[in-house]
Amino acid sequence: MEIIPLGHALGAEIRGVDIAEEIGDNTVAAIREAWHRHHIIVFRDVSWTPDQHLAFSRRFGALDDHASTPHERFEGYPELLEITNRPKNGQPSQSRNAGRNWHSDYSYTDRPAAASMLYCTEKPSVGGDTMFCNMARAYDELSDKMKGIVDDLESVYDFNLVSGTKVRDPEKMAELLKLNPPIAHPCVRVHDESGVKALYVSERTSHFEGMSRAESLPLIEYLCQHATRPQNTYRHKWRVGDLVCWDNRTAMHMALGDYDPSEFRHMLRTTLQGQKSGYVVAPAEY
Ligand code: OGA
Ligand code: MN
Repeated sequence: MEIIPLGHALGAEIRGVDIAEEIGDNTVAAIREAWHRHHIIVFRDVSWTPDQHLAFSRRFGALDDHASTPHERFEGYPELLEITNRPKNGQPSQSRNAGRNWHSDYSYTDRPAAASMLYCTEKPSVGGDTMFCNMARAYDELSDKMKGIVDDLESVYDFNLVSGTKVRDPEKMAELLKLNPPIAHPCVRVHDESGVKALYVSERTSHFEGMSRAESLPLIEYLCQHATRPQNTYRHKWRVGDLVCWDNRTAMHMALGDYDPSEFRHMLRTTLQGQKSGYVVAPAEY
């Protein structure tokens, strides 16, 4: 197995493992170790079925069945999420503008995702890239005083701030808001496996619990800007057959949407279930 860094801040490619086939415990441990170190790991030229995608993912933990976003489930596979601009059943895809702001997956649920594994089956001729940033580094690089401030905050996540809400069917949107009421999580997330502390605030944070949105917004914006400085990012240029795995506990990501929407992009994602976290709170006053 070979580990080739792709970025200074985060990201590495893993070569020399056929992940479509059953892999041994030692290989799983080595991948996990590289994943903790680099936050994002990439496998190229993967050719597999949905069942193989599920089998590989399960080696790293329990999978979410996506009950929080049921409309994006891949037909017949509740543990696979379909992220695509391809029309579905003659209707425009509900997920076509998904992931277009900086976020960590399922932060608006009471089980924020531990990790996600996104597989590219179809891509536009140019663009359709995804960006990632290192939230552990973002936390480390704050001053001690600011660390003390964020250590005491709770970030409230609001489904209204998810991207692409305007292109969603209003009835489905109402259902999603009901399923996912605003929820407060610690603003600093401690990785349950590595113990690493990472900033946990995003463009989907409406406010800090106990503070107004007006009071919170300047700090939310500062922290997001601090975390997403170019030197703290990795930009992935997809190829068909790429599997990109990110750790949602220590990284944020964003779909750039830098492509011609008349061309098709199709991705399948598994989600590793995270620890239970947070409590439901009142929405921010916008
Ligand atoms: C996701 C996501 C980004 C992309 O699948 O969670 O945000 O580029 N995807 O499709
Ligand atoms: Mn996402």
